[in-house]
Amino acid sequence: MSNDIIAVVGMRDQGKTTWLRNNIAEEDNLIVIDTLGDHTFGSKGKPGWLPVPDKRDNLQDVLDEIEIAAKQGFFQIGIPMPIDDEEKAIWFEYLCLEAYQTAEHHTKCTLVVEEMGLYTNTQQTPTGLNAIIQYGAHAGVNLIWTARNPAEVSRRLTSETNMYVLFALHEPRWVEALGERLTDDIAQRVTQLEPGHYLMVDRVGNVVKDAKLWP
Ligand SMILES: Nc1ncnc2c1ncn2[C@@H]1O[C@H](COP(=O)(O)OP(=O)(O)O)[C@@H](O)[C@H]1O
Ligand SMILES: [Mg+2]
Repeated sequence: MSNDIIAVVGMRDQGKTTWLRNNIAEEDNLIVIDTLGDHTFGSKGKPGWLPVPDKRDNLQDVLDEIEIAAKQGFFQIGIPMPIDDEEKAIWFEYLCLEAYQTAEHHTKCTLVVEEMGLYTNTQQTPTGLNAIIQYGAHAGVNLIWTARNPAEVSRRLTSETNMYVLFALHEPRWVEALGERLTDDIAQRVTQLEPGHYLMVDRVGNVVKDAKLWP
């Protein structure tokens, strides 16, 4: 994928995770922050995907695993995250830094963050994520993030996002925020999408793709 930062936005069950599955499988060197445990499919017969153990409960082991795999070249890894909020935040911080360092020292990679709203808010951008937002393109890290509400995540992140994959949104305040970020016309169209139907929109509101995940 040639875009540096891509957002996948929409209400629950509209197809965000399905879109990811369809689009990241072919990515080389992939780190998926698998917030809801949706990406354990990764290990199924796909060469390069590191096996997902039932439980990865030691952060250092995960970081070492990524480091070793990155040195060898091609790797894809999905990381189920801890439930505890404080622990989740620590894992997030270190995994972002790991993605950044992987790109800087070993190989280009793509970081996928499912449910970005759990890791940032409008005013807060964790240090590791900030490094990717500010210098990721230079270091060679692509970022793909999902969120239900585009207005709840780091403003620094949304202002640097260059492509939006938009599924249906109905919550008026979220729609309004999307209108402010993109265009009112796009925001209006997004309220009318059926599940599985999405618009891919660039940062100034041009629709570059209008497609359905399933008929
Ligand atoms: N081919 C399909 N036809 C109809 N419904 C589907 C198809 N594939 C997935 N779905 C449904 O669409 C929903 C999309 O889920 P998901 O991609 O996880 O959405 P999100 O990540 O936005 O919550 C799920 O409820 C799933 O059962
Ligand atoms: Mg999902």
